[in-house]
Amino acid sequence: MIRLELRNVSRTYHLDEQRIPALSEVSLVAEAGTVTVLVGRSGCGKSTLLNLAGAMDFPDSGDVLIDGQSTTGLNERQLTELRRNRIGFVFQSFQLLPTMTALENVELPLLLARKPNTEKIARERLRWVGLEGRERSLPHQLSGGQMQRVAVARALVQQPDILIADEPTGNLDTASGGDVLQLLQRAARELGATLLMATHSAEAAAIADVRVYMRDGSVESIQRNL
Ligand SMILES: Nc1ncnc2c1ncn2[C@@H]1O[C@H](COP(=O)(O)OP(=O)(O)O)[C@@H](O)[C@H]1O
Ligand SMILES: [Mg+2]
Repeated sequence: MIRLELRNVSRTYHLDEQRIPALSEVSLVAEAGTVTVLVGRSGCGKSTLLNLAGAMDFPDSGDVLIDGQSTTGLNERQLTELRRNRIGFVFQSFQLLPTMTALENVELPLLLARKPNTEKIARERLRWVGLEGRERSLPHQLSGGQMQRVAVARALVQQPDILIADEPTGNLDTASGGDVLQLLQRAARELGATLLMATHSAEAAAIADVRVYMRDGSVESIQRNL
């Protein structure tokens, strides 16, 4: 099943008088439960593509389709619902709230969405990422790898259909980066999430079912390992 599709998507930023074409005519499809990795040097448009795929930004032309529905056609309420319930994000810099415990960070999306049993579900997700016993730790009391595992638990706490990871191992050593990659891959395999990840690292690219090689805002080639 095609979960996510980009169809001839272009995006140009405008900075003062400058036009910065970040993506031009990009097309790709990602199926449910698969791992798609964006590879390419800094500035080639990976983060721009991820923001469009996560409905955090919109194309100037072309369409981003989630289950066949264009994100451009959604109203504010539908967008909030989509971002809260169906899409999870993991960032290079973890983006945990520093004054909240690991458990509270994971629980927060459920509270915002007014879901029941928030603490129980958040505890289960922390156990899933191997952090049972660290519920009461604050982010600064955790290692980088542990912080990123909390961020993965938070991103997965609502069982999102789409998981977006922007250089998720960029601040981690090889061993803890490997743990995080294994969790992201399990999210696709066990939870059926469609994982879209941007990376510089060969280890991260290795878990891909589909590798998308990007250059200067375009897709240069696509390699399938399915
Ligand atoms: N908010 C922004 N405003 C202006 N230019 C941007 C913005 N975000 C990214 N860019 C530019 O768009 C291009 C693509 O950037 P980006 O998508 O961040 O690439 P990558 O994630 O592959 O490093 C680069 O030239 C970058 O400088
Ligand atoms: Mg980037």
